[in-house]
Amino acid sequence: MHSLHLNSEPVGMAVVGAGYWGPNLARNIALNPATALRWVCDLDVGRAERLAAPYAGVRCTAVVEAVLDDPLVEAVAIATPAATHADLAIACLRAGKHVLVEKPLAASVADAQRMIEVADREGRIIMCDHTYCYSPAVRAIAGLVQEGELGDVLFIDSVRINLGLVQPDVDVLWDLAPHDLSILDFVLPTELRVDSVAAQGADPLRTGRSCIGYLTLALAGGTIAHLHVNWLSPTKVRTMIVGGSRRTLIWDDLNPAQRVSIYDRGVDWIDHGDLDQHRRSQVAYRLGDMVAPALRDDEPLARVVGELAAAARGELEPVTSARSGLRVLQVLEAASESLRRGGIAVAVQPLGMASLP
Ligand SMILES: NC(=O)c1ccc[n+]([C@@H]2O[C@H](COP(=O)([O-])OP(=O)(O)OC[C@H]3O[C@@H](n4cnc5c(N)ncnc54)[C@H](O)[C@@H]3O)[C@@H](O)[C@H]2O)c1
Repeated sequence: MHSLHLNSEPVGMAVVGAGYWGPNLARNIALNPATALRWVCDLDVGRAERLAAPYAGVRCTAVVEAVLDDPLVEAVAIATPAATHADLAIACLRAGKHVLVEKPLAASVADAQRMIEVADREGRIIMCDHTYCYSPAVRAIAGLVQEGELGDVLFIDSVRINLGLVQPDVDVLWDLAPHDLSILDFVLPTELRVDSVAAQGADPLRTGRSCIGYLTLALAGGTIAHLHVNWLSPTKVRTMIVGGSRRTLIWDDLNPAQRVSIYDRGVDWIDHGDLDQHRRSQVAYRLGDMVAPALRDDEPLARVVGELAAAARGELEPVTSARSGLRVLQVLEAASESLRRGGIAVAVQPLGMASLP
């Protein structure tokens, strides 16, 4: 049954998955005047009921079909493990609902392509919850990079490490690297155009999957990026360095007073082709001030939910669309192949995107 579309009404929504992340989605959906939380669904219905308890009039179920049969539900937020995303999203899309799917969009590129085909056919939206792309810090970084304030991006170095739960269905690359990859996709003028990826992983506690991961990406235009993700670090670190030919930016997400610092420093390579070999080339360093832009302290997920509501009303295309989710999955699949093949660089083939939304 297709959902009721009343433009003046808030977008009726359900949350499927009431574990760690589902409550954050439910709270933002309940608080946003553009959305109304109508259902919480979890295989463990007691968990759904505990989550729904503070919100008036929210119904609970263990079976997603109850949600799909309700014409007042126009969009479903899916916060279940990655391996379940494709089947749940396809069921929602076939029932005429828009979907907001947690990262990673799916457990494989093939699954994501199936989801996109169904969304196309049904004329419904898939938005991927790449939450960081809605944070004031990442918005500021995107503006600086795209307006050329940093010059050409030469390198990116990211560290995302903490004590994390070992996930039942994904390794640390599939759990944490989607954050960094989606940020690169959003921030870089070339999107996430990756020529190749090399991955190393380690499982020193023998959990059965990599708990420590390193990714090296060769990006379009000669930029190199290195991502370190780790569930076994007792110290939490969330930093990203974006080194440009004009300026260098350091984002420390754990420093709310100064999340982003821009150093007016850069390097120039001067080639005096007419001099002898020893004196011909030299690196010139420029050393200037540091500035820290003032950033708002908005909750990114509130903006995700607002954008989903606007997209459901046909007012805009979500920035973190199924396309961006798919680009992230392409890199993750290549990274997994690299892990299996001992860390060699694996080429990332661009998909034919013409038919994708
Ligand atoms: N955007 C972010 O910053 C962010 C942060 C954390 C987690 N996540 C993502 O959210 C998703 C969920 O992660 P989590 O840590 O909350 O997991 P979790 O294991 O804590 O919770 C998942 C819940 O889904 C329920 N579930 C599983 N299959 C179901 C089904 N078919 N129907 C209904 N309920 C079902 C489980 O019973 C469980 O309660 C993952 O994709 C994860 O990557 C995103």
